[in-house]
Amino acid sequence: MEEGSGRVSTGTDGGCPRGPTGQNGERMGELRTTFISRGRRSSIEADASFLELARRVGLSLPSLCGGRGKCAKCKCRPQGPTTPFTPLELEMLTEAERDLGVRLGCQARPLGAVEVPIEEERLDKGDYGEVRVTPEPILRKVYLELTPAAMHDDLSDIERLRAHLGDGLGGDLATLRTLAPALRQADFRVTATLMATPRGGEELVSVEGGDTRGQAYGIAFDIGTTTVVGYLLDLATGAEIARASRLNGQQPWGADVLSRASHAMEQPEGGAELQAAIVGTINQIIEDCCAGVDVRQVYYLTVVGNSIMHHLLLRLSPGPIAVSPYVTVTRDPLTVRAADLGIALPNARVFFLPLIGAYVGADTLGVILATGMDQSDEMQLAVDIGTNGEMALGSRGKLLACSAPAGPAFEGAEIHQGMRASVGAIDRVRLAEDVRLWTIGDAPPRGICGSGLIDAVAQMLRRGLVDSRGRLLPRPHLEGKLPPKLLERLVGQGHTWEFVLSRDPYVAVTQDDVRQIQLAKGTIHCGVQVLMEELGIQASQIARVFLAGAFGNFIDRRSALAVGLLPPTIPLERIQGVGNAAGQGSRMALLSTSIRKRSETVARQVEYFELSKHPRFEEIFIDSLAFPTSQG
Ligand code: FES
Repeated sequence: MEEGSGRVSTGTDGGCPRGPTGQNGERMGELRTTFISRGRRSSIEADASFLELARRVGLSLPSLCGGRGKCAKCKCRPQGPTTPFTPLELEMLTEAERDLGVRLGCQARPLGAVEVPIEEERLDKGDYGEVRVTPEPILRKVYLELTPAAMHDDLSDIERLRAHLGDGLGGDLATLRTLAPALRQADFRVTATLMATPRGGEELVSVEGGDTRGQAYGIAFDIGTTTVVGYLLDLATGAEIARASRLNGQQPWGADVLSRASHAMEQPEGGAELQAAIVGTINQIIEDCCAGVDVRQVYYLTVVGNSIMHHLLLRLSPGPIAVSPYVTVTRDPLTVRAADLGIALPNARVFFLPLIGAYVGADTLGVILATGMDQSDEMQLAVDIGTNGEMALGSRGKLLACSAPAGPAFEGAEIHQGMRASVGAIDRVRLAEDVRLWTIGDAPPRGICGSGLIDAVAQMLRRGLVDSRGRLLPRPHLEGKLPPKLLERLVGQGHTWEFVLSRDPYVAVTQDDVRQIQLAKGTIHCGVQVLMEELGIQASQIARVFLAGAFGNFIDRRSALAVGLLPPTIPLERIQGVGNAAGQGSRMALLSTSIRKRSETVARQVEYFELSKHPRFEEIFIDSLAFPTSQG
């Protein structure tokens, strides 16, 4: 933890030691904030905003504006004494919210002992399904009963191991430091873990007391800009022992990769802060997954993620990715010690799958590996929709990939009442005589998430509330054409109409929201169209479409076609949600040496295409903005 960041405790809520005076003139010892997330309590004594305090205990309140009081995504309900409402809070919060004790986490601070519940989010990205990989572990464990050192037998500890394991055996300093106590505490009956090195040799990574040959674990990570998922697997059998997901701890520095890259580039400690934040999230996931598993027996991690997440975790400068001509520091596969990155696994190595390009990362590579596009004779399209839409199109022998900057609208950001997919988010909408809504957790609606918005806009197009240019039609235009209950839900005047989905609590889709969705879907559609032109194919030739990621998994495929996210001539039955295919690729690489080798071959073969270089880019983009006219 960084110096001066406060006293942190997790899991218990004990006494409150007294400390120095904070900036509000309160005793620091009285400023105890306890965050409650997934039944776990994390406390901190410090004088800072709740957004900052949450970050310091390794949790995240949503934030899109970096704590400047502009996005209202950091709303929380602290229970206990807090600072008065700031002018920004008076502006951003409704009276009803203020009466309920809702605060902006970036503005409010504790004035005593405060508890802050943190909403659970729907962080799963959906299941890809079973890992169909034959494990080929990268390591072997050997049980040894060694003769203890004696006056007449003065081999060094490592030589004693070499006598059984081969002359070439080496170990780094960290492993050598553990050797003497491990051997002597176990009376020289130990299990040595040997990991294959890239040069074909073996490296000693741990020596454990007793026979632990049955225990060898690895964790496959998918590091998303919003969500990080980890899968703990048994390296010998491939069985999944546990999985956990968390919001990426870099949220306070912005929802999109470029805000974070800017922070890393512009602030002297920016890169270090972001690296610590993502390592904090990884360590939490390890803690979540490893209940009942000895972390010393987690030997291997694999990581997929977009190129900026990859660079920030490795503490490489994201600068070259963020500015023209958009290149990475390295695209090569890398293996590093987990401990060197601050990851709380003493014996683990981390394998970073290679990147494809500056804006098509190892996550897209994971999707390709999982879906087997690189081995298919059919023309296939994979689209992983997050704040960037990363996509690949092609078949065995020729795959093209690109990135389309869709922006965060599909994650509920920059939407009037948008929210991420957590409890109370409207995630499904149907319009008949009146509106029918579904919310996550069947809770009263609090806002609308990406899949709900796509549904809402698709339904509004179908009922003629929105025209093909994206205009939300004024109520007078629709008199007599809509059932009265739907008509009554159009409120506003002049050019500022909105469609009310829920009156109490109030949730509406505004004209601006429709424009945001239009822009985002147009960007994805444009990417697909450009790739098709580059390969010289028609949409009807695409045999399968894989929609990957949380959004792709939860989106209604019919609605995706209705708004024109994909070319409307692709038959519905060819589109399939594949859940967290990137995470699946990471799992496959964790278990199999052959898959890791394949990942390197595929990364070299996939051609990265920069959309804006296409001669008809602007024309295609403008065409892609229109909503399809025939609604099914
Ligand atoms: S308003 Fe608080 S983080 Fe944006």
